[in-house]
Amino acid sequence: MKIIRAKDYNDMSRKAANIIAAQVILKPDCVLGLATGSTPIGTYAELVKGYENGDLDFSGVTSVNLDEYKGLPRTAEQSYYYFMHDNLFSHVNIDPANTNLPDGMEPDSEKACSDYDKVIESVGGVDLQLLGLGHNGHIGFNEPGDVFKYGTHCVKLTDRTIDANKRFFDSIDDVPRYAYTMGIGTIMSAKKILIVVSGEDKAPALRDAVCGPITPACQASVLQLHGDVTVVADEAALSLIK
Ligand code: GLP
Repeated sequence: MKIIRAKDYNDMSRKAANIIAAQVILKPDCVLGLATGSTPIGTYAELVKGYENGDLDFSGVTSVNLDEYKGLPRTAEQSYYYFMHDNLFSHVNIDPANTNLPDGMEPDSEKACSDYDKVIESVGGVDLQLLGLGHNGHIGFNEPGDVFKYGTHCVKLTDRTIDANKRFFDSIDDVPRYAYTMGIGTIMSAKKILIVVSGEDKAPALRDAVCGPITPACQASVLQLHGDVTVVADEAALSLIK
């Protein structure tokens, strides 16, 4: 794993955006795996700046997102569909037809997941996968457990994740209990992986992911087995790693 040390959140965002920008410039028809959460918001803002400056062209890019809440309509501000449009897609020239997320409104979990696996297969796999990191070491919504799951699956969110994500909702009762997420196998199939991590509260999870044993109890620890992972983290997030 390559670890890039950033001074703070803004520096992390600039560095991560530069890595994604390089991918888009070098391969204009690339497939980007995209993430939600508060951590990549600054990265997306930097990419929007790059587009506005005329440095970046997203017209050939295809995107596949990691996950989506089950049961939230696209119009709900907390849906990841809404998030992606609000933070990136509406501000750059990516073709909306080439942006993909799991269908949170498909009530049949098996169908939602197998449909999404077909989408990922049809775009030919992911060139660069952007990830955030959950406090419990989750990536996408792959929650701590006994196994690493390969493909897209429906997850029951842990109390810790529900608690961490309640800040986006009016009340904790409004946080969906289930989500559809790309599996660890699919994430690991990406040619390159970029993980962004910020803040002292993420330091234990980052330490476990980078230096701990490879275990499904910390799903991000599996990234140690991938040949091309770049961690861009600020000093606070790196504070427990020597
Ligand atoms: C959510 C998302 C993850 C994200 C994580 C961390 O649960 N499903 O993809 O990485 O939260 O979010 P944040 O960046 O807001 O800490």
